[in-house]
Parts: sequence; structure tokens; C-alpha cells
Amino acid sequence: MDRKKEIYLDNAATTKVSDRVMERIIDMCTVNYGNPSSMHNKGLEAENQIRNAANIITNVLLCSEEEIYFTSGGTEANNLAIMGVSEANKNVGRHIITTKIEHSSVQKTFKALEAEGFDVTYLDVDKKGYVDEKQLEDAIREDTTLVSIMYVNNEIGTKQNIEKLGNIIKNKNTKIYFHVDAIQAFGKFVINVDKEHIDLLSISGHKIHAPKGIGALYVRKGVKIIPIIHGGGQQKGLRSGTENAMGIVALGEATKEAYKNLKSNMENMMEFKTKLVEEIFNKIDDVVVNGAEFNKSVPHILSLRFKDIKGQALLHALSDIGIYISTGSACSTKKTDLSKTLIAIGLSPDEIYGTIRLSFGPDNYEDDISYIVDNIANLVEKIRKVVRGE
Ligand SMILES: Cc1ncc(COP(=O)(O)O)c(C=O)c1O
Repeated sequence: MDRKKEIYLDNAATTKVSDRVMERIIDMCTVNYGNPSSMHNKGLEAENQIRNAANIITNVLLCSEEEIYFTSGGTEANNLAIMGVSEANKNVGRHIITTKIEHSSVQKTFKALEAEGFDVTYLDVDKKGYVDEKQLEDAIREDTTLVSIMYVNNEIGTKQNIEKLGNIIKNKNTKIYFHVDAIQAFGKFVINVDKEHIDLLSISGHKIHAPKGIGALYVRKGVKIIPIIHGGGQQKGLRSGTENAMGIVALGEATKEAYKNLKSNMENMMEFKTKLVEEIFNKIDDVVVNGAEFNKSVPHILSLRFKDIKGQALLHALSDIGIYISTGSACSTKKTDLSKTLIAIGLSPDEIYGTIRLSFGPDNYEDDISYIVDNIANLVEKIRKVVRGE
């Protein structure tokens, strides 16, 4: 049976595992399958493979190997950073700061801490999704212990100036820890934890062509943090549990590939995105790009809103013909479930419902642009006819 043409434009949700990463996974499952804590050669070999993977990440972030901790993904890395630091430092202060556009794994961790009695400041962003710097500066208090700000927003692709924000924090108080959710930035941008004043940084494998269920947290040496998972004391006691050796090796390999091809991948995606947007504007009326100015926007994420369209209807209709995208709002029609990011940049409920997200990867080709845009244009016209009662 012929498989229908598939075009995957949802790389910010997850990515395909690369061939090379898959080879390494098979090797770790069938050859180097020892428990890294075992003292025999099979265990030692697994441990060496883990150390190699940690070294790859270390070389990218310009940190040291003992500052990398592997987790079950980005969500756990964010939970560990925020819970672990807030709880460990609560005798110093109980005020913590984040933004209104964070991923739910950050936002809900802050909500949980708030319920426990922590005082949380949620920073506003402007219409493009940039954090209000003055508000950040003013929010910092004597009892502030942690600030958590994402590098690249997963819905609209706004990239914060992390170095500048880090500077504001450290100028006010060098003792405040700065956590950055870099899950949509790692593998796409050069990140320098020292230069950008980052104390903790979360990454996730499945956004960069490694499998789901592996992530890592960079924790600067000297940061006071306690574990959220207790057990056998692996990873220097901060993250117990037998290491996901195959996932870790996959993350290392995916990191190596991402940074080896960084420049060409990013240039190709920017070219793809630019041409796609040009053609969308040529063929469709009443469409707006959400987020940052085009020349400052990240190459891999594009958020668009269409007048008189339900993003969900467009998603399903495109899915039926093998084009995979995402909506801008949560998968619910309930008002309370509208995307917090899109609310924070000032969109109305109708604008939020009309939003879709396209996110790109190295497997997107310019040859497909006309096919993608023709189909979107077609469906937008059909949906609008129904909505407008034409
Ligand atoms: C910005 C951001 N943070 C955190 C996460 C959660 O990562 P994971 O899926 O690895 O738990 C995601 C995933 O969508 C994300 O985009």
C-alpha cells in the first residue's frame, strides 16, 4: 500500500529520532546494556558511554561534567530546578520569580510552590513576548532566591535576551539563582552558561532528534539544591534511579549532531520559514504572524493567526491530508484553557482560537512550500465560507 505524502511541521512538539541516534540506542540496548552502577566491565562500559554523553553536553555549554544531571525529560529538569532550589533555600527567602509565558512544567511547579506558601511574581511580557525588564528589576527583593525565564517560547518562538536578563538579576543580587528552560533553544543556539549568567538550565532530548523521556539539567557548581526523587543515590544523590543509559547516549549523540550542523540547519530553516511566510501572505488574506519581528524571530517556530478560522478545524483538516501542525491554544474549547502565552501577548479569545503553530526541522524542503500553502489556502477559504455564512 502506498503511504500518503506526509509533511511534518510540528518539530516543537517532538522530532523524529535520527538514524545515527537510533544506531547508538540499539547499541546501548543490545551490546552496552550493563547497569552503569555495576562494578564489572559491562557496567563500566555503560558508565563510560554516559560520561562521554555528558562530555558532549559539557563542551556545548562550556561547563564541567559534574554539573550535568540526567532526568526523564524537560518536565523533570524544570521541576527539579525550581522545586529543588526553592526548597533548599527557603530559609534564605520565599520569594521566587517567573514569567506569564512559561511552559506548564514551569508554571505549574510555581503554582505548587505558591500553594505551599511561597510568594511568586509572574512577570508580564509585551505584545511580541519579551519579558518586561524594568518589571524584573523592580520585582527582585531581599528574599528573592530564584528567577526562572525560558530561552525560547515554545508557542510563538520569541527568544529572550538571556544575557541581559541574567545581568539585571545578578546586578541586583549575585546570590539569586537564575534558571533557564532552554528546551526550545538547546541544539538551535550557542548557549554559554557563564556569559549568560545561567545557574541552572533545562534541556530535553526529543526536541533535538533523540527519543522522548530523556533530558538533563545543568546545575552550576555550588548551587544549593535538594533532590525531588529519592532512592539509590545515583548522580551524586541529586537524581536517584538507574540512569537511562540508552536515552543519555542518544541525547549526547543528538547534541553532537545538532551542534555540528547548527549553522546550516538554522540557515535552511530560516530560508524555509521566510519563503513559506511570503507565500502565505501572497495567497491568504487576514493572516498575522504572532510574536517577535520577523528578522529577530527564531527559524524553527512560526505562529500565525487567521481571521474567522478555528485553528483546531484547520489542524484536523490538514492532518487528514498528511500535513501535521499544532494549534496555538490548548485542545479545549473552554475559555480557561486558552493558551496563557497568547493571553499574555494580548490576543483576544477569537485571535487565540484562530492561531496555529508550524515548527520546522531539517526534513522540511522548499519544494514542499507550494503544496503546503495551497492546501492551507484552500482549507482557510472553505472554513471561512462556513464561518462567514457565505
Ligand atoms: C519550553 C518547554 N519546556 C518544557 C517542555 C517539556 O519537555 P518534555 O516534553 O521533555 O517533558 C517542553 C516540551 O514541549 C517545552 O517546549
